[in-house]
Amino acid sequence: MPFRIIRNDITKVEADAVVNAANCSLLGGGGVDGAIHRAAGPELLEECRTLGGCETGQAKITKGYNMPCRYIIHTVGPVWQGGGSGEKELLYSCYEKSLQLAKEYGCESVAFPLISSGVYGYPKDKALQVAVSAITDFMAENDMDITMVVFDKNAVSVSEKLLENVRKYIDDNYVEEHSDNAVRSTFVAAFSKSYEKMPEDVCCAPASFSFDKLDESFSQALLRLIDEKGMTDVQVYKKANIDRRLFSKIRSDVNYKPKKQTAVAFAIALELDIPETQDLLEKAGYTLSNSIKFDVIIKYFIENRNYNIYEINETLFSFDQSLIGV
Ligand code: APR
Repeated sequence: MPFRIIRNDITKVEADAVVNAANCSLLGGGGVDGAIHRAAGPELLEECRTLGGCETGQAKITKGYNMPCRYIIHTVGPVWQGGGSGEKELLYSCYEKSLQLAKEYGCESVAFPLISSGVYGYPKDKALQVAVSAITDFMAENDMDITMVVFDKNAVSVSEKLLENVRKYIDDNYVEEHSDNAVRSTFVAAFSKSYEKMPEDVCCAPASFSFDKLDESFSQALLRLIDEKGMTDVQVYKKANIDRRLFSKIRSDVNYKPKKQTAVAFAIALELDIPETQDLLEKAGYTLSNSIKFDVIIKYFIENRNYNIYEINETLFSFDQSLIGV
């Protein structure tokens, strides 16, 4: 997955480059800065002393030393002063300059903390919006695995309104003890009235199911839908937050069976409705049911035609569900 959000201590995350939320002196501090200097060891400070500091919004690079990374990129975020002093542009520049440096040094993976959202006081939800915007702008033109490492879950705070709506939707739709067999037998009973006995593995196909696509594989269905939606491969896998290499594998292997999170990511990228999504998932042996919280949250977004994969992932993250993408 080219962009993911995880909860961890950034000093434990393996990546080609780890970004440090530093201050202008580059001589260490508290928070992430302190944690990274402690993990990297005293040689890091020695190299930082040679850099001559760093301006807000800019970035400088050092070796990783004892950290599980080749490089540490030090960037200095803006101190929050209410939002009227160019903080957003400076914070955007931190991500932009750090990613440019990572690319210049041949990094294929980068891990970021939520810059400025600690001591510097930038509201976490606003800081995350700027981060996602800068990272997705970079990813539109570049291939790199980027991880946002948040220390506490409330750092990923999607709007309270959205969380409230999803919570209500789950309450209305999520059926804790729903047995798939009950669904299966009801569906087969309904279907077997109008069709000859269905082979077992298609008995949960959605109403839009048609026999002429019975032998269509997931890969074939995906490529057909990309054409039908008038999109390009690149548009779809970038919108699905899917790695280019994985997409090539799916495209070249007609029988490739993706993980459910991957199949759902493509349905979101193609902006499918519920029947189309169920039909596509069915090709890979999956379905969206009301007895799995992940499924219910995905159905919420599809029914509300909200196909913003980052908002969906932030919401899934808030409900401790796996994220969509690879
Ligand atoms: N791993 C991941 N995230 C962390 C970690 C960690 N080990 N420690 C803290 N964080 C999170 C904080 O919860 C916050 O959300 O990183 C985010 C950034 O917080 P700070 O480290 O305080 O960085 P910032 O707000 O940019 O302030 C920079 O603080 O530490 C000093 O020297 C630093 O003066 C500079 C200022």
